[in-house]
Amino acid sequence: MMVYLTRRYRFSAAHRLHNDSLSPAENARIYGKCNNPFGHGHNYVLDVTVAGEVDAATGMVCDLGVLDGAVQREVLDRFDETHLNLDGESFRTRVPTAENICFEIFDLLRAPLAGAGPGGNTRLERVRLEETNSNFFEYYGGGGPRSAASQVR
Ligand code: NI
Repeated sequence: MMVYLTRRYRFSAAHRLHNDSLSPAENARIYGKCNNPFGHGHNYVLDVTVAGEVDAATGMVCDLGVLDGAVQREVLDRFDETHLNLDGESFRTRVPTAENICFEIFDLLRAPLAGAGPGGNTRLERVRLEETNSNFFEYYGGGGPRSAASQVR
């Protein structure tokens, strides 16, 4: 019996939507206020969904401690209270749009959550990122900019 478990996390980060390969005018036209030089912040809401068979012995699909540990280590410690463009390597060459943040978080969590459940068959199913009250983005691991080559699902 396949069960999907979603757990919610929160982190705060600043970003600037800007592509160095575009002219200042193009950046301003495409990204508008989000291209302001010094960036702006969001309180992101991150939902991480894992899927797997329920383990017969424990009755669980995934130990929440294992899930929390992976998200804390791979995502929250890396991004919380940072400037996404300037801190760390994730967005040195990619614009930190919510779409690209979804790709990156999926890539970061895919391996740590593979087989993380007590039955050993749990996998990362979805990353959902809420950037504002009005929009959220979902990624199911299919062919992101960096994950296409390693995609097996
Ligand atoms: Ni923004």
